[in-house]
Amino acid sequence: MNATYSSQSKLIELETKFQTIFNCNSEGIYRTPARINLIGEHIDYNGGKVLPCAISYYMHGLFSIRNDRRVVAYSNNFDSKFSADIDTISYKKRNSWSNYVFGVFAILKEEGFVIPCGVNILIDSNIPLGSGLSSSASLLDLVFYLVNDVFNLGIDLERIAKLAQKTENEFCGLRCGIMDQAAIALGKKNKALLLDCGNFKYEYKEMALRKYSFVVLKTNIPHNLVKSKYNERVEECNKALEILKKTFEIDNLCQLYEYQLPECENLLNDPILFKRVKHVVTENERVQQFSAAMTAGKTEEMGRLLCESHKSLRDDYEVTGEYLDTIVEAAMNAYAIGARMTGGGFGGCAIALIENRFFEDFRFRVDKEYFAKLKIHPDIEEVEIVDGPIKIK
Ligand code: GLA
Repeated sequence: MNATYSSQSKLIELETKFQTIFNCNSEGIYRTPARINLIGEHIDYNGGKVLPCAISYYMHGLFSIRNDRRVVAYSNNFDSKFSADIDTISYKKRNSWSNYVFGVFAILKEEGFVIPCGVNILIDSNIPLGSGLSSSASLLDLVFYLVNDVFNLGIDLERIAKLAQKTENEFCGLRCGIMDQAAIALGKKNKALLLDCGNFKYEYKEMALRKYSFVVLKTNIPHNLVKSKYNERVEECNKALEILKKTFEIDNLCQLYEYQLPECENLLNDPILFKRVKHVVTENERVQQFSAAMTAGKTEEMGRLLCESHKSLRDDYEVTGEYLDTIVEAAMNAYAIGARMTGGGFGGCAIALIENRFFEDFRFRVDKEYFAKLKIHPDIEEVEIVDGPIKIK
């Protein structure tokens, strides 16, 4: 399915649509992927290490230059069009998805970049929305990448990731970390990105999985509440950090070690805050162990760590919910050697590590168990690990 998404016929279809919507030819096509996070969840905004990779779901952006100063954005998925003046852009709830396009122009202006004229942009995507596969980061990276290239702004991929995060934080109001924007901007085929979110140092890790693969499990429950719940977790972590800073010399929670947890528990004197800190500290440790296991090809160990991560997100960080828990359980009852939620949680997607030869039966069994319990079907797909943004033509 994903291979055909960027096929010649699909691109022609998009160009034709562009002509219909904007009454002119498109002048170029750009593409960004989606992402999964293998491990290191909800610790990017706590200065931790994460291990995401770009996957083969895509967002396409087509553009043409305008001779006025308007940005006109059309979504082929929603069949909706919004327009704004480059010089007076502000966040408006009624602009829904197009805030992610307009926000890019607002942040570029704030950063001192001069955009000489308006643009028409058509967006088309097969990244399921609200699925935890980062459709919003993909859209932000796409628009930054496109605008940067079209107007020769000279922004590198690392800065694109940082500006995209800034847009999401300051323009769109989600206090997310840098993981998604970086995973997509810096994605590399068959490699995972080991990113230290405390200092933005990163390296690529070979995904030595041999006969195993990561499979994406969509709960088909969009994570609607994520914005408020997500910001609530960020707030809890900040609160815990303020308290712990008085005793420990730390700038972020991921600078704590597991052996310090009992002391943290006393200092915090708040079971909820302690659970959050416990997740953050143990998850950061798991990322290093997982990354070492992956390099050594120790798949069983990877599987064990995935399960521990999910448990920690379920019991201590409390961001999973019935649908994610059920799908992870169903995966483990089938052939998975490890499974966990991926992304923000509260619905969305999980990943499972399975032996390739079991895929078809795995899909059948997980679907059966999940449907029996929750009366909706999940989507279960094999994905490829792919490169970051490209200009297609
Ligand atoms: C969302 C955010 C990321 C990260 C994950 C959880 O995807 O955008 O910054 O915090 O949740 O790991």
